[in-house]
Amino acid sequence: MTSAAQADSGTTQLCSALPPAVDPYALSLNENPLPPLPAVRAALVDFIGAANRYPEFLPTRLRRLVAEHAGVSEENVALGPGASGLAMRVLQTAAAPGERIVLSKPTFEGYPAFAQMAGLTAVDVPLDGYGHLDLTAMARAARDARVVVLCRPHNPTGTLESVADVERLVADVPADTIVLLDEAYIEFVAPHQRIDVPRLIARFPNVIVLRTFSKAYGLAGLRIGYALAAPELAGLLWSMQLPFGISAGCTVAVAASYQAGAQLEQRIAHIVAERGYLRARLRASGVYTTDSHANFVYLPAMGRPWSEVFADSGLRVRNYPDGAVRITIGSRGSTQMVLSAIERTLNAPADAPRGQIPPAVHNRRGPQPVGPAATRWPAPDPG
Ligand SMILES: Cc1ncc(COP(=O)(O)O)c(C=O)c1O
Repeated sequence: MTSAAQADSGTTQLCSALPPAVDPYALSLNENPLPPLPAVRAALVDFIGAANRYPEFLPTRLRRLVAEHAGVSEENVALGPGASGLAMRVLQTAAAPGERIVLSKPTFEGYPAFAQMAGLTAVDVPLDGYGHLDLTAMARAARDARVVVLCRPHNPTGTLESVADVERLVADVPADTIVLLDEAYIEFVAPHQRIDVPRLIARFPNVIVLRTFSKAYGLAGLRIGYALAAPELAGLLWSMQLPFGISAGCTVAVAASYQAGAQLEQRIAHIVAERGYLRARLRASGVYTTDSHANFVYLPAMGRPWSEVFADSGLRVRNYPDGAVRITIGSRGSTQMVLSAIERTLNAPADAPRGQIPPAVHNRRGPQPVGPAATRWPAPDPG
């Protein structure tokens, strides 16, 4: 084979190894199950035609777009390769190796890794017995920490702390402790439950809000995230903006997404409705999920690991060492496969060895009680 032919077959192989845009089995990364909106795809095709050209030296156009959309001024915005890239930049620029970072446990798995890469000492604060952040304990731990991270909604539980509770924590922590408020899933939260971020960062110069185009916007492959903060902190992050570091493809994709806002809202509403459907069906089967406000559901550990329930389903879900599972909301087809895998376990022969079926699964008590108790974790089953 000539080297050109070899290269060609290599490209073909690599292209065929790209993850498909539509994959009902892909439920482990909280991606958007739908391919880019037609207008976004068209903008990206336009961009590709001029891919021989560098983007802007610094991404000022994208900064302006994001600022206008977020209702802040440009000085409040920094950009990066996903919320992950910005989180890493925050830890490297605003904290020094050896300083402490307060994390809830479990949390988005990126944070412990970023903390380690930045040489920070992680102080883990377990979620409370109901899957919520223990904000009182986090505020206490933050007294001698450089950074405290709050994910709202939280990953992996999807739970949402109240606006008042978050503001109380922010007011409680020392002025030189950075509060990293991760809003990666904020578009899935009901508008009346969102924090007024322009007001928050105007009041608290130590708050950095992180957002991403990877989730609701469905652009995970482009790697675009942004930070909102008071001018001093945002300026610090912007001063570390890599020249030519953000592709013009990102800028046009964001512009097209904002312009197609109504279509995007429909997609988000669809995912939120599917989340409600899945949770209701699980509840009807006696399976408890936390009160998720994001594009996933979380099933706490309940005896037999959930990984075993999904092992033969072909579904890729996110399993946790304690036996819990996080499942991204996908299409109705994905939902049906999740429910079928659980039903198969429910219908396992009665002589199946006891203890292999999670108590929550073989306990068909019907719907969980409605009200505050329904949004809380049940006590872990000792069996
Ligand atoms: C809470 C949270 N923050 C940040 C990220 C990373 O997002 P990005 O793709 O923008 O790096 C994720 C991804 O799963 C997440 O769950």
